[in-house]
Amino acid sequence: MTGAGSPQRVFGIVLAAGQGTRLGSALPKAFVSVGEETLLSLSLARLQREVSFEKVFIPYPDGYGDRCREVLEGSSLLKGSLRGSYELCQGGDTRQQSVWAALQRVSEEVDEEGERAVVLIHDAARCLVDPSSVRRVVDAASLHGAATLGLPQTDSLKRVEPETSVAEETVSRAGLWRIQTPQVFEFAHIFRAHREAVEAQEPPTATDDADLVQRFCPVRVVLGAEQNLKVTTPWDLDLVRMLVGGSNGPSSAV
Ligand code: CTP
Ligand code: MG
Repeated sequence: MTGAGSPQRVFGIVLAAGQGTRLGSALPKAFVSVGEETLLSLSLARLQREVSFEKVFIPYPDGYGDRCREVLEGSSLLKGSLRGSYELCQGGDTRQQSVWAALQRVSEEVDEEGERAVVLIHDAARCLVDPSSVRRVVDAASLHGAATLGLPQTDSLKRVEPETSVAEETVSRAGLWRIQTPQVFEFAHIFRAHREAVEAQEPPTATDDADLVQRFCPVRVVLGAEQNLKVTTPWDLDLVRMLVGGSNGPSSAV
C-alpha cells in the first residue's frame, strides 16, 4: 500500500493458470504475446508500478512452470524488478482452485497472530489495468477490508430463451455492475472465505473472489476503467495489441 497508516505487508496473486479456451490460442492465455511482452508480464509490470508487493504468487497451468519462469525472466519490462519477489505455484482446474492454491502459500508467510496483511488478486488476462484504478481499489480495501473494481452496466439487458433465442424479459440494469480485478482483501477475510468454501465442499466455481467474501463481509465496489478489459476472445486480444502498439499480427495467428 502506498499511504501512511496502510498495512505494511501486501501480497499479490496474479492468476495465470487458465487455458484460454475461448481465445483458442496454442499457448495458455497468460503466456500469449503482446508485442515483446505477454499478458502476464504486462499485468505484473502495471501492478508493480503502483504497489510495493512483499511477494507475488503466480499460479500457472499444470506442465507450464518452466514456460512461466521463462516468460517472467525474459520480460524487459520486469527486468530487475521481480528477482526474488515472486513465487510460482501450480494452479488448479478452476479459477477458485488456483486462488486457493496461492492463498495457502500466502498463509505460510502470514503466521503471526493478528498481523495485518492484505492480498491483491488480479487476472493476468487484464493486462491493461491502469494505475489509478489500482490505487482506488487498494485505498478502499485499506479503509474497509475488502474492495473490488467494477463498472456500472451500460447496455440494455434481456433474458433470452436459449432454445429459440427469443427475448423473454428486459432486466433492469439499475444497480448492476460489471466486476473487474484487482480485488483486494485483508488476508484474514479472503483466507476464511476460501477455507469455508473448501470445508463446505462447495463446487469450486466462483469466477471472482468477492463472491466468497461478500457472504460475511461487505465488499466495496469502486469505479474501474474500460481499458481494464479481460482478454477473453480473439477480438479482445486484437484490441489490446492495437492499444499497446505491438507488432503481432491478428490473434488468429497465435
Ligand atoms: N485462471 C486460473 N486458473 C484456472 C482458470 C482461470 O488461474 N483454472 C485465471 C486465468 O489465467 C485468467 C483469470 O483466471 O487470468 C480469468 O479467467 P478466464 O478469463 O476465464 O481465463 P481462462 O480460464 O484462461 O479462459 P477460458 O475460460 O476461455 O478457458
Ligand atoms: Mg475460464
